[in-house]
Amino acid sequence: MTLCNPKAWIEQAQREGWAIGAFNANTAEQIQAIVAAADAENAPAIVQVSHRACLYFGSGDALRGLSYFAAIGKVAAESVRVPIALHLDHAEALDVEEALELGFTSIMFDGSLLTYDENVRVTRVFADMAHEANVCFEAELGEVPKPGINEAHGEDGLTDPDEAAAFVAATGIDLLAVALGSMHAETEKHVALDLERLKAIRARVNLPLVLHGSSGVTDEYVAQGIKLGLSKINLSTQLNKVFTEAARTALSDEKIVDPRKYLAPGRDAMTEAVRERIRFFGSAGKAAS
Ligand code: G3H
Ligand code: ZN
Repeated sequence: MTLCNPKAWIEQAQREGWAIGAFNANTAEQIQAIVAAADAENAPAIVQVSHRACLYFGSGDALRGLSYFAAIGKVAAESVRVPIALHLDHAEALDVEEALELGFTSIMFDGSLLTYDENVRVTRVFADMAHEANVCFEAELGEVPKPGINEAHGEDGLTDPDEAAAFVAATGIDLLAVALGSMHAETEKHVALDLERLKAIRARVNLPLVLHGSSGVTDEYVAQGIKLGLSKINLSTQLNKVFTEAARTALSDEKIVDPRKYLAPGRDAMTEAVRERIRFFGSAGKAAS
């Protein structure tokens, strides 16, 4: 299928109490793994690439990386029967217009390091631009810490429910990323979410909510969070870990020189990991509905 705007599926997920997986890719093989898993599970899915992934894939030129991913994402989506969205994750201001021109069907602008007023102002402008192009638009309020960029600020960094309601009304966004205690790039599942805060946000905000930094969150909290209104679950580090472990195992044969001999096992292992998460999030079999 051609790339799709995921807004309607995420709203359906919100109504029905399941979640769409939004899986990060840093390489072409990871995009292939995600769409293969979605196809095998008959699930809608989001392939997402971050600004930092674009910097990597463009050898330091984020816009070049964005172009590569747009082209690969389009071909990947067209190679399967299930609906796939291509999402630019943690976009910086300079990426947004380019992503719209390149055919991304969903964008998250990350204004979490801006002041509240500035975050509202910039998010509003980009949300309007995205909607004119029929592109789903997500923004973040609160901070989900990223290693080397922003550290955890305890309660102060978490999303304030009243501010969330005001932010949604002032910006016109489709999806709200909330900070409930998760952190990016955790390699083990040990984090609990602030579910009382999630309930309070849910009581004031009717939009689908997004969980960032899900790799470190225990399955029990992810499952409860989905029931309470987290309708898009972003997953990256867990998948990188699975991919790399499989590649590392293959590389233990020191005679290997052909990258295909270790990238293919990485891709296969990641496909299985994405399939498992699709089932866990409840989106398996939902492609047709
Ligand atoms: O935006 C990406 C996600 O928030 C993924 O975070 O690496 O902790 O899974 P993660
Ligand atoms: Zn994130």
